[in-house]
Amino acid sequence: MASHGEDHGRHANPAAAAKANSTTTKFAKNGHVTKFGPSDGPESATSPPPPEILRQSTALPRKSPPIRRPLSSSSSSALLLPARSNGDRNLEARDRDLEGAHAVAGGGGGGVFGGGAPPPRPVPRERGRGAAVEPKAKPTTSLKTFSIYRWTPDSPSKPKLKDYQIDLKECGPMVLDALIKIKNEIDPSLTFRRSCREGICGSCAMNIDGCNGLACLTKIPDGADASTITPLPHMFVIKDLVVDMTNFYNQYKSIEPWLKRKNPPSEPGKEILQSKKDRAKLDGMYECILCACCSTSCPSYWWNPESYLGPAALLHANRWIMDSRDEFTKERLDAINDEFKLYRCHTILNCARACPKGLNPGKQIINIKQLELAK
Ligand code: SF4
Ligand code: SF4
Ligand code: FES
Repeated sequence: MASHGEDHGRHANPAAAAKANSTTTKFAKNGHVTKFGPSDGPESATSPPPPEILRQSTALPRKSPPIRRPLSSSSSSALLLPARSNGDRNLEARDRDLEGAHAVAGGGGGGVFGGGAPPPRPVPRERGRGAAVEPKAKPTTSLKTFSIYRWTPDSPSKPKLKDYQIDLKECGPMVLDALIKIKNEIDPSLTFRRSCREGICGSCAMNIDGCNGLACLTKIPDGADASTITPLPHMFVIKDLVVDMTNFYNQYKSIEPWLKRKNPPSEPGKEILQSKKDRAKLDGMYECILCACCSTSCPSYWWNPESYLGPAALLHANRWIMDSRDEFTKERLDAINDEFKLYRCHTILNCARACPKGLNPGKQIINIKQLELAK
């Protein structure tokens, strides 16, 4: 096992570490500029307007731009009218003028499209100006920053959070997809565990934005904020997001997680049958995938990781205690009836909140305590 502890010790309080180390992230935005100017619209024609029009235009207040209204339904030419004439025209009347102009321009009979085809959609125009407002372009990228815990025993430098920016439009939806993309395309030295990619093996457990979970089952958080990914809390780090699970597995092994019989089956290899009702008693326990999300979110386990068995090992202890085929129930209860092994659990229930499989180890621990009392 790699040496650890001198430089970095247990990885504690990832949220605080994230705040201390995270850097500001900038996101590109697609801008859109619409130009307005003298060359916009037909009034920019080189021939000067008639004197009457000029007189009307110069009589306008400076902030009142001219609008257009067709002279007749058969003509496409337009006359410059004042937006407000001595206060006797209001905005509603001006809008009516514009609507009439659109109706005429549409031709009412299909226009050049004819044959019942729908009229062309009018190009949106800014009120009072001739310039067309082009539709905003949709963003072609969706950048997201991941601040990922980095540490390697090969380097004397301290652990740090390193930022990686990826385009979510070219990435799968889960955090594990983002990690794989970063490893494949940006930084091959990034190290993490994964195998099944569907929440079965339990190897991709890590802390994502302050919560323990499986990277393959955790959706990439929405929003532009950077996501912080750190190893499971209070575990010795081997490299980057990979933690040392030796103590965790030894605790699991200590509860002897296998069927133990005093009376072996009549024939070697013969099945030991169980009723449906007895089998149902194992629901909520047999589904555990030993990912360690629960144990590494348990404050009691943080302070006593060697002496307190933790929620995962105790859940499995109860799984074998409750198994109707097992004949060592009393011995199992005696083995864990210990101030530290069992009674460090204070029913805080962080474990239930953290479990990605929806299990409730705290409830199973309560069951063990009740059986201990009833002995
Ligand atoms: S209920 Fe017990 S095992 Fe679960 S988090 Fe709380 S103290 Fe830990
Ligand atoms: S109880 Fe849940 S969180 Fe704990 S090890 Fe099992 S699957 Fe993981
Ligand atoms: S890769 Fe197997 S549980 Fe995530």
